[in-house]
Parts: sequence; C-alpha cells; structure tokens
Amino acid sequence: MTSVELADADATAAAGRALAPFLSAGCAIGLIGDLGAGKTALVQAVVAALGATDSATSPTFTLINEYRRGQVPVYHVDLYRIERAVELDEIGLDEIFARGDGIVLVEWADRFDVMPRDHLRIHLEIEGSGRRLGFSGTGPRSAALAASWTAVLGTTGAC
Ligand SMILES: Nc1ncnc2c1ncn2[C@@H]1O[C@H](COP(=O)(O)OP(=O)(O)O)[C@@H](O)[C@H]1O
Ligand SMILES: [Mg+2]
Repeated sequence: MTSVELADADATAAAGRALAPFLSAGCAIGLIGDLGAGKTALVQAVVAALGATDSATSPTFTLINEYRRGQVPVYHVDLYRIERAVELDEIGLDEIFARGDGIVLVEWADRFDVMPRDHLRIHLEIEGSGRRLGFSGTGPRSAALAASWTAVLGTTGAC
C-alpha cells in the first residue's frame, strides 16, 4: 500500500493527473472514503488529464457519467445513492466490466461487491486540513498500475 499526504486540493488534482497516463481500456479503479474525502475531485482530475470529453450518452447518466477518450469510454460511477444490489443491474456495471473496453472509476466501491478481482483500490481520508491518499492493486495488472503511479507521485509535488 502506497500512502501519501495530499496537502490541498491542488495536490489531489496533481495526483489524478499523474495517474492518468497509465490508464488504458480494461482498467478498473475503486475509490473508498467518506463524503468530502476527495473521490470526485480525484476522478475529475483523471478525466480532465485523459482529455476525455463528456459524451452524455449513458441512459443511466445520473449514476454513471460516461466520457470518451477517442474510442475508449471512461465511466465514472457513483454508488452513493444506490441502496439495493438489484439497482446495480439497472446501471449495467457488470456488463461494463465484462466488456472491458473502457476505463472504469467507481466511487463508494466498498458499498457493494462490484469490482473485478483485479482492480486499483484507492482510499482517501480527511487528515487535518488535507487528505491522505492510500492505494494498492488487488491483482497483477492493478499492482503494476499502483507501482507506476507510486513512481511518479514523488515528482508531482503531490506528496
Ligand atoms: N488534499 C486536499 N486537501 C484539502 N481539501 C481537498 C483536498 N482534495 C480535495 N479537497 C476538497 O475536498 C472536497 C472533496 O469533495 P469531493 O471530491 O466531492 O469528495 P467525495 O467525492 O469524496 O465526497 C472538495 O471541496 C475539494 O476541493
Ligand atoms: Mg463524490
């Protein structure tokens, strides 16, 4: 588990920008942390750095924001408002993971058992006036992603 201090919102954005270049179709990322911990802020920095544009074609746009980077869909999923597992079928998350054609970022990934076995698991915690970012991979692909991100974080001013 890599753990770094993010002193302010700029540091969170820098961390997201640092992760973006390592992402490709099939990457799954789960974000865990309390309200206001910075999950959305981190995702938005990743999406912006990917140069992904809002395609707004998703029928479940309230629960999934779908962006596109060239041909690669980027899905930003928020499970906060989902109360029952059956609602997960409605948003089609399993299908998105099964297709494996996109980059998928899921907020509140600990609320339901939805993530594929190999995913990057990100924890954000409020720590004083800043945040603590912790992350690790749960399989070979995400472990490589975690190692790449760790290697560049030191040079972004994010820690
Ligand atoms: N490292 C940080 N230190 C202090 N404030 C931060 C940091 N990163 C983000 N923030 C701020 O904290 C809030 C996080 O909100 P948000 O990203 O919506 O949280 P979440 O999605 O986890 O509920 C935003 O107001 C953001 O500007
Ligand atoms: Mg959020």
